Amino acid sequence: MERKKFLKITGSAAALAFFGGITSLLESCKRASMDMSSAISVITGKFDNILRLPPIINGTSPINLVAKRNTASIIKGKTSYVLGYGDSILAPIIKVNNGQNVSINFQNQLEEITNIHWHGLIIPENMDGHPRYLVQPNSTFNYQFSINQQAGTNWFHPHPHLKTGRQVFRGLAGMFIVNDSEEAALNLPSGEFELPVIIQDKRIYADGSINYSPEEMDVMSGYFGQYICVNGSWSAYHNVKTKVYRLRILNGSNARVYNLSFSNGIPFNIIGSDSGLLGSTQIIGNVILSPGERIDVLVDFSSLSVGAEFYLQSNTFNGGDSQGSESFKIMKFNVTEQVPETFSIPSSLVAFVPISPSLSIKTRTFDISNIHMAMPENGNMNMGMNMDMSKMHNIGGKSFDMERIDETVSANTTEIWEFDNAAGEDLHPMHLHGVQFQVISRTGGRGVILPHEMGWKDTVLCMPGEKVKIIMTFPNNLGTFAFHCHNLEHEDSGMMLNFKIV
Ligand code: C2O
Ligand code: CU
Ligand code: CU
Repeated sequence: MERKKFLKITGSAAALAFFGGITSLLESCKRASMDMSSAISVITGKFDNILRLPPIINGTSPINLVAKRNTASIIKGKTSYVLGYGDSILAPIIKVNNGQNVSINFQNQLEEITNIHWHGLIIPENMDGHPRYLVQPNSTFNYQFSINQQAGTNWFHPHPHLKTGRQVFRGLAGMFIVNDSEEAALNLPSGEFELPVIIQDKRIYADGSINYSPEEMDVMSGYFGQYICVNGSWSAYHNVKTKVYRLRILNGSNARVYNLSFSNGIPFNIIGSDSGLLGSTQIIGNVILSPGERIDVLVDFSSLSVGAEFYLQSNTFNGGDSQGSESFKIMKFNVTEQVPETFSIPSSLVAFVPISPSLSIKTRTFDISNIHMAMPENGNMNMGMNMDMSKMHNIGGKSFDMERIDETVSANTTEIWEFDNAAGEDLHPMHLHGVQFQVISRTGGRGVILPHEMGWKDTVLCMPGEKVKIIMTFPNNLGTFAFHCHNLEHEDSGMMLNFKIV
């Protein structure tokens, strides 16, 4: 499936110097794709595993998070060896209010470096979890910041360069919810009617441990798993009542993109994008959600009857070389209790002000097509027999360099950035740290701004053939932040740059 890309590489001027490396790469690719055809096919279970609900902790008092090895029962009746921030896989859900101060005592009990990046939070650079800021094994770090942003569903995960993919895949991630008074005024479903849905695919060895062993092929397309999990439960079910539910859906997968819908055709009432509530509810039957993205949705189960069973599923879609060819069920809902429902889904939500493109002082364009290899800094293309995996992907021809500043922007100014995947063959969910943006156009490919993109975003999916423009105003948090593809194998193999706010 990645053949076209390899043919392009071998056809390029660099081919001669790379010849040895490419030949072995093609060999291992053939090997990998043979393995992958069996490894990647989604395994469908009986949906008899009760959905795990992560504990919820209130961020008004100091929080302790410990990254360590745990066990979890991802597959019913089996013990999996995982990493987690609590006692199992993933982390407790952290809930905070806008305006409050948060203190997180983080302890690294792993045998390697890690850190925590607060994906979606607008916080100072020394708290953001950039790969330059690491926490050594058996060390602690106190993450302290104040919340200064609207209600939304954010998340957190490790960000040590070259290790992010493995640590997230093995279980380190969590949801970070911000609440505010504008949201509270909407009286949205809460308690048992507000459900976290963290979707991740895992590869699992026969002994129950999580298998993260990417070959070159997996680095090209991203690492996929055959077990589709929700909140760390594979083949899960959840019993629901005849009510409106609020689902906070996070695609926490390394690479897999889902085309979400309900098997019984009930629509998503989208009320929020990555980091905030929308101006008005968007009703739609399916949503393509890429790694890093979140949607906040209301789903109305009130007209279903007790005994009804249906699935959250992923349908096929046109996702370039490596995605969208399979449809599968993700989790099952059983309607088990009839109760009266008086809540009606609001059509208008919060004040959402689009940023006017006329405010932009600069437009920057980034070629994310990856049709050319990154140029090594010394101009010497001979990297020997083995391809340097940390430089397999690039943005605008550059692979990640921890210390290099690629873009410099000014605090409190507005810019338009364009991600150009017009010539690309793979999809790339592009994510910026430290700022929230709005999507202002998409040309090529799907050609429109989608309903779940009509609000505050920090991650946007660029399909092959697409050019996506975003607009943002940089906050007054000076320092160096990263932007990257949120396909974690792409990120770890170089598809990340730094921007500095001055
Ligand atoms: Cu969720 Cu730098 O990423
Ligand atoms: Cu982030
Ligand atoms: Cu990518």
